[in-house]
Amino acid sequence: MSNPIASVNQLIHHLGKSVSLRGWVYSKRSSGKIRFLMLRDGTGIVQIVWMKGQIPDTTFELFDKLTQESSVIIEGKVREDKRAKGGVEVDGEKLEILHIAEEYPIGPKEHGPDFLLSNRHLWLRSIRPHATLKIRDRFVKAIRDFFDTNGFTLIDTPIFTPSACEGTTTLFETEYFGDKAYLSQSGQLYAEAGAMAFGKVYCFGPTFRAEKSKTRRHLTEFWMVEPEVAFNDLDANMVLAEQFLEYTVQKVLAECKAELEVLQRDTSKLQNVRAPFPRISYNEAVEILKSKNIPFEWGNDFGAPEETALAESFDKPIFVHRFPAKIKAFYMKADPANPELALGMDCLAPEGYGEIIGGGQREDDYQTLRSKVKEQGLSEENFSWYLDLRKYGSVPHAGFGLGIERTVAWLCGIEHLREAAAFPRMMYRLRP
Ligand code: 4AD
Ligand code: MG
Repeated sequence: MSNPIASVNQLIHHLGKSVSLRGWVYSKRSSGKIRFLMLRDGTGIVQIVWMKGQIPDTTFELFDKLTQESSVIIEGKVREDKRAKGGVEVDGEKLEILHIAEEYPIGPKEHGPDFLLSNRHLWLRSIRPHATLKIRDRFVKAIRDFFDTNGFTLIDTPIFTPSACEGTTTLFETEYFGDKAYLSQSGQLYAEAGAMAFGKVYCFGPTFRAEKSKTRRHLTEFWMVEPEVAFNDLDANMVLAEQFLEYTVQKVLAECKAELEVLQRDTSKLQNVRAPFPRISYNEAVEILKSKNIPFEWGNDFGAPEETALAESFDKPIFVHRFPAKIKAFYMKADPANPELALGMDCLAPEGYGEIIGGGQREDDYQTLRSKVKEQGLSEENFSWYLDLRKYGSVPHAGFGLGIERTVAWLCGIEHLREAAAFPRMMYRLRP
């Protein structure tokens, strides 16, 4: 075909011109002497109109053969149409069929979530997953831009690790040339080494946890972005986290209007994501729960119901800080004002989405950290390199981890975070 190749989302720039379009049949219908074809090309969907008499009869015959998701190359002239979504329609001139699709399993009717997840490789083509994953893509771009423009260096941390970062109960074990290795639960410990070398770093990659619970908030494989900053304390860490969330969420709001509309997302709560966020201590949080008659014992960790109850008192994300040290990881620094508390912080999203960020200030004293490693029954040999960081110019430092799927689920307003991953991994799902 001879016309310039155009993508559907660029057609508005080709008004009055003939172009070549490549894609898949989303749907089609006929009405008397007119045929309508909705063409999907990954960037959008456009209606192609075919008029009997204006194109050869053979093209009409080809049209009748088309099935949903058949792949085609189409030539046609772009015409303005204010009623259409992208503001254009195309008058079909030529049609070339690349492949006639077999009967497509996903149609306009309601399908159950299990069926759709089993057909995730095809379901990606539908409008809602397409919008969700596009938002994820823009969110990730905004994350990288934020760190890039704020002086951070990307440090890729390993996936094969010799030991746990976030507790031994959710480790995925794998054989490693006669030794044992574990899939990384977090890149944090390595990012701390990076922060001592580069000052401000972040790692960004897949992390793994053998979550045996079937909840709507847990995957076994999820992506986490983890900044780590030398000389930051807990307060500076919260300032970084709120600036980071404000920047990335506002970017998504500005760049993904169409996608958020497809998902019928009420964006008013997202508009509110502006620093500063309210900060409440764990102790204050316990009081709030009490005042709401929610049974809760000091010393326990918050579950989904407690997080929802805490967040609903505010109209934007909140920080909860200074948790009981007992429920937090070994690397957290104890609060000098009360050693029973750890200088940790969580950021809770509104609307019942719960914890999206976990982090805090790290223990920077060699002896204290060494005894914590021992207390937790962790191997000193495996952590000797990590302890080294406290031997050679130890400084206060802090960081956090943001779960991508949890945050994307909140941004999109979707019920279960499995839809925020292209190919989600859960206890009962390894395929496709
Ligand atoms: O609170 P977490 O366990 O913190 C850490 O891993 C720290 N090492 C991070 C750091 O300080 N550098 O996990 C951080 C975030 C959570 O707030 C949540 O958003 C997400 O990771 N997350 C999960 N997302 C999906 N499925 C799971 N099973 C998750 N577990 C944690
Ligand atoms: Mg956490």
